[in-house]
Amino acid sequence: MRVLISREELEAKVDELAGAIAADYDGTCPILVCVLKGAIFFMADLARRLPFDLEMEFMAVSSYGHSTDSSGVVRILKDLDTDIEGRRVLVVEDIIDSGLTLRYLTDNLNSRNPASLEVVTLLSKPSRRTAELHCRYTGFEIPHEFVVGYGLDYAEKYRNLPYIGVIDGLE
Ligand code: IMP
Ligand code: MG
Repeated sequence: MRVLISREELEAKVDELAGAIAADYDGTCPILVCVLKGAIFFMADLARRLPFDLEMEFMAVSSYGHSTDSSGVVRILKDLDTDIEGRRVLVVEDIIDSGLTLRYLTDNLNSRNPASLEVVTLLSKPSRRTAELHCRYTGFEIPHEFVVGYGLDYAEKYRNLPYIGVIDGLE
């Protein structure tokens, strides 16, 4: 395993993102929507750094299965528990690769008439983008390498690593 982003670098970046989000959302009681499972640690660390009222919701969508390439087929496996109409919504994502998953998700959430809908992603692979997508806050732009750790998996393993790493010899 090769470390791409260390635990310290992750902490500093989450601090920085929380600062920007706090400036934009203070006093508006936003709904943070965590996209399971990859964004769990990012959501947990980010939410703890936001010093105002907010709500936390969770969604699960199918994307890659056990392969490392997007199928383009997105299915909602777990929906929100609450109505988002008229609310400010911030989708918290682990990584944007092709963008297909988030494109589908944001179109779906927008149809429910939130007051605003924005995306924060910890990681982004801009060279891989095929779907047009607006992302308000991005942590790190990374090259096209399959990464694991801090919530991200390969065949459900490695999510518990405290850093972002690359598995050598995978691709
Ligand atoms: P997209 O639809 O191609 O943007 O893929 C988004 C989803 O694929 C992410 O939310 C991740 O769950 C997964 N994914 C994409 N790239 C990686 C990676 O490098 N490591 C682990 N999961 C990834
Ligand atoms: Mg994900």
